[in-house]
Amino acid sequence: MKVLVVGKGGREHALVWKLKQSPSCGEIICAPGNPGIGKLADCFPVLAADKLHLADFAKEQAVDFVAVGPEQPLANGLADELQAAGIPCFGPGKAGARIESSKIWAKNFMAKNHIPTARFAFFNDPDKAKDYIRKEWAAGQQVVVKADGLCEGKGAYVPESEEEALRAVDIIMIEKKFGLAGEWVVVEERLFGQELTIQAITDGQRLVILPPAQDYKHRNAGDKGPMTGGMGAYAPVPIVTEQLLAEIKETILRPAIKGFACESIAYRGVLYAGLMLVEGKPYVIEFNCRLGDPEAQAVLPVIDEDILPLFRAAAAGKLPEDRIIPAGQHAFCVVMVSLGYGFQEEHPNQEITHIDWATDILREEGFVFYCNTKWQKGKLVTNGGRVLTVTAWDKSLVRAGSLANYAASKICFAGSYFRPDIGYQALHYQRST
Ligand code: AMP
Ligand code: GLY
Repeated sequence: MKVLVVGKGGREHALVWKLKQSPSCGEIICAPGNPGIGKLADCFPVLAADKLHLADFAKEQAVDFVAVGPEQPLANGLADELQAAGIPCFGPGKAGARIESSKIWAKNFMAKNHIPTARFAFFNDPDKAKDYIRKEWAAGQQVVVKADGLCEGKGAYVPESEEEALRAVDIIMIEKKFGLAGEWVVVEERLFGQELTIQAITDGQRLVILPPAQDYKHRNAGDKGPMTGGMGAYAPVPIVTEQLLAEIKETILRPAIKGFACESIAYRGVLYAGLMLVEGKPYVIEFNCRLGDPEAQAVLPVIDEDILPLFRAAAAGKLPEDRIIPAGQHAFCVVMVSLGYGFQEEHPNQEITHIDWATDILREEGFVFYCNTKWQKGKLVTNGGRVLTVTAWDKSLVRAGSLANYAASKICFAGSYFRPDIGYQALHYQRST
């Protein structure tokens, strides 16, 4: 079986790494890939956003199966293009990907299907959005302001004051920081609680739930600074009991799958639910149409079974049953980012050294997944915000955490940063129970 993985981030490196372990995976290629992926698979410079070229490329290469990592190609309709070419694809079509590509669509979908989520309103007029924010704030209600479209995880503002909330409207709608993605904004009630990521593989009918993860979205330690795509993660999550997972399945995942079926959308791939536990009750903060990054770098290493048959069955609409995949051990990852990540400049082209040292520390108990990196005159250099994900795994979450932090501390590039407090809730929970 020849498999094509689409994407170039840490998540796709983890996917290639995991799929390559599958006995049924004969050959694996990646488009466009990155220098780390290049050590495991042949990489081809076809851009993930270019669906027509990618579909042609998949045909030329005679691939048997495609797994799509990022949301953008799915939102563009890559899966539809591949299906039309007769190539099975893991990842929903354009219609299903709207669950992520339009927050307004997703919120209306949740309302229609009685899926618990924060109260919301949406606007394409900045003055009306501001009036609404002023009224909410005057009534003592804090709000969150989000661009409607895709913004690589950076389009949500969680303001501490009314002024900051009004400013978010200006940034999104007047200054157009996110371009067309900010033509509409969603203003929603601010929820308070622990965040949680639950991801399920689905064929549109059945749900195979992956180990729960927790992701850290704020740029800086102490959950400070702007929102990012994710600064680190760990899996599984000790507060997720069997009972809570059953509740999430019945009140969130199952209604979502039924909702897709009602709209005649064949949703095949990953359904990602970003949740907030408010006094123990799960609410949806967002749905995504693919694996999380960096959640994938923590979740895939703790799945003991072969994922290729699961991906293929989901893509074919033939998952045999609902089930929950247990975590074999604990995994913990930290994301090493460039100085300006989450702010303005991302300071590319900084030489990266000592990955070998980190790899020696991790041995068989971890892996350095590459994100935005490239070769430049024979040297590995940074090529964007998130540069590397350092994952470690162990029977003990505490040891996995220490190992990942220690290994990451050896890797050097100018302006590098990683949050030293990833997993703080779980580590605290483990110590206090
Ligand atoms: P989103 O892009 O919708 O996933 O939002 C990014 C991040 O903003 C989430 O992971 C939360 O940390 C925060 N956030 C989003 N919506 C809310 C909300 N309604 N209440 C509190 N925090 C939120
Ligand atoms: N880490 C959050 C996401 O992938 O959207």
